[in-house]
Amino acid sequence: MQVPFIDLKRFENHLADEFIKKISDLVINTQFIGGKEVEEIEEKLKAEHQVAYAITCGNGTDALQLALRSAGVGPRDKVLLPDLTFWATFEAIVNVGAEPITIDISLDDLQMDFELFKEAIEMFQPKAAILVHLYGWASSNTFAFREYAKQKQVILIEDGAQSYGVTINGESIYKNAFISTISFYPAKVFGAAGDAGAVLTNNKNISEIVRSLSNHGRRSHYSYDFVGWNSRLDAFQAAYLNVNFPYIKRRIESRKKIAEQYRKDLKELGWNIFKPKSLVSKYNSEISQEVQIEENGYLNVVFIEKEKREKLIQHLKKHQIGYGIIYPETISEQKGASPYLKQTLIRNRAKQVSETILNLPLFPYMTNQEYETVITVLKKF
Ligand SMILES: Cc1ncc(COP(=O)(O)O)c(C=O)c1O
Repeated sequence: MQVPFIDLKRFENHLADEFIKKISDLVINTQFIGGKEVEEIEEKLKAEHQVAYAITCGNGTDALQLALRSAGVGPRDKVLLPDLTFWATFEAIVNVGAEPITIDISLDDLQMDFELFKEAIEMFQPKAAILVHLYGWASSNTFAFREYAKQKQVILIEDGAQSYGVTINGESIYKNAFISTISFYPAKVFGAAGDAGAVLTNNKNISEIVRSLSNHGRRSHYSYDFVGWNSRLDAFQAAYLNVNFPYIKRRIESRKKIAEQYRKDLKELGWNIFKPKSLVSKYNSEISQEVQIEENGYLNVVFIEKEKREKLIQHLKKHQIGYGIIYPETISEQKGASPYLKQTLIRNRAKQVSETILNLPLFPYMTNQEYETVITVLKKF
């Protein structure tokens, strides 16, 4: 039996019909840019994540650029980012003219290391940092990152492209971020029917600049406060997001169950399946508070020695089991990074992860039969 790495077709049966009906109405009314669907999804995002402002935009990369620009990050400003993330985090910094500085991760949770972050602030005096909530969970130091950044007057932007539905002490991870960003890329936990993104914040000024920058820097139709660009969410994408919205919690529950099942079964079978320390409630002395993260089941992480990983890949391919290597190289190693990367604070940890990581199939409504097939194939390795 073939098991894909992810299956976007698995969603609720009536979704396509509901979406097509909406598209038909939008076409008949020639409602293509902005309008009711866009307003509706922004209202839903605000209510769901308890933030004062939600501004949709073209994609998650633009969301990061809008976040940086709205906070006044620009040419020659230094910006910290983790050495293990999707390339877009790095691109966004370079595209606003700022200087990226890669910081290594913690092997406790695979997120930016808090101690190195503190060290980097003293060493480099950055204007901003992008904390990425990677793999579908977050750092148990999230509150500490926020606190410390505020104390040191470092703008903290949270790349939440992979963390839709992640909670920290029972509340949305986006809720108390200064600025957080979402990607609705179709393969994400909450995916659109194409590219889409959003910026969330509780800061009115930031929200107004983001709104303006994403619409050509407009104040009114033909007057402009900034040189922005066009990154408006179109009505079709907004309609697709609205149709999907009621099912996201159910999909997350389904993902989480499978993620936990993998941890239980693979551990018993002797595999090195990763459980982030941040998923265990922990007292964080930095902020004198208990911190409990709940994941969204976006990805699972298995570690396997470099030499064995290639053999496992061949074995999975032979048995038609999908897999991911997220990510096979660190940001610092990318050829495209070299013209821009002048400073780093790395300890070889992200590299170690990139050389040994493998992600197994995980998507909402994965069947028992599919799951058991993956386990059986792993047992045969
Ligand atoms: C961590 C991270 N940041 C940013 C992005 C960029 O989002 P998009 O593809 O919507 O531009 C992605 C996903 O693609 C991501 O995983």
